[in-house]
Amino acid sequence: MKKYTNMNDISNISEMVKEAILLKMNPYGYSEIGKNKTLVMLFFNSSLRTRLSTEKAAKNLGMDVMVLNVSDAWSLEFEDGTVMNMNTSEHIKEAAQVISQYADVIAVRAFPTLKDKAKDESEYILKSFVKYATVPVVNMESATAHPMQALADAITITELTDKPKPKVVLSWAPHPRALPQAVANSFVQMMQNLDVDFTITHPEGYELNKGIVKDTPINYNQEEALKDADFVYVKNWSSYNDYGKILSQDENWMMTKSKLGNAKFMHCLPVRRNVVVEDAVLDSESSVVIPQANNRTYAAQIVLKKILENL
Ligand code: CP
Repeated sequence: MKKYTNMNDISNISEMVKEAILLKMNPYGYSEIGKNKTLVMLFFNSSLRTRLSTEKAAKNLGMDVMVLNVSDAWSLEFEDGTVMNMNTSEHIKEAAQVISQYADVIAVRAFPTLKDKAKDESEYILKSFVKYATVPVVNMESATAHPMQALADAITITELTDKPKPKVVLSWAPHPRALPQAVANSFVQMMQNLDVDFTITHPEGYELNKGIVKDTPINYNQEEALKDADFVYVKNWSSYNDYGKILSQDENWMMTKSKLGNAKFMHCLPVRRNVVVEDAVLDSESSVVIPQANNRTYAAQIVLKKILENL
């Protein structure tokens, strides 16, 4: 593997999931592979799980880890040919090449603006690192994708299902803030690659990018969509068509124990209790959010292992 910026960088997803589950059974089995190798993690935005699980994954492989909150460094310029006489101090061309001299792998988290759709969709931050870095780049959630989360989600569903084709539903939920579509986008793409019966449910106006959803069924009736579900993945996202807008805060879309039925509840976390999902779900046996978060380590570890094997 040369990089992990989106799911297309995985050549065989079901094989990758199987390998991650094996790695989880023997997490220190490859502790020499990352010896004298360094992972530099760059955070343009906040994180709890991604930061700690990726560091743990790297350390399980014997890597050294350096973390930079980008707001602590010089402000970066991404435009070509700019006269840099305003607020930016360092161009990505120099920054990415310099960081590459300290790193064997660079991991980047950079969320969208949710104001400028074209700019967000260009993935200019992630793509600039891919362009100018001289080492492999890993996406720790970009403007439009969170492929590391999606890999952890696939591991979780694979581990917890005893059915050949479980029913999986992605359900929108209300949230007081405008959130990116990245988690939902990557989850949709991942489910399209697994042997699952997959449906998306959300209020009208919350359609995700058609180029990602393709022919995945959408049901605007949450109750109907949830019928006989084995896994319900709940996530808020802001409108894609009316870009970045909150169109609804309808609390009837919050996930409840009665709506969930016998399904397992999934969420990438962090989650707002009693807004996105009621306590009775999160505090029940039906919730798998804690093992799901644990799988972030093994998703990151299999990705880093495959990159290290290719250095
Ligand atoms: N799910 C996830 O990416 O969590 P963090 O934002 O805390 O990293």
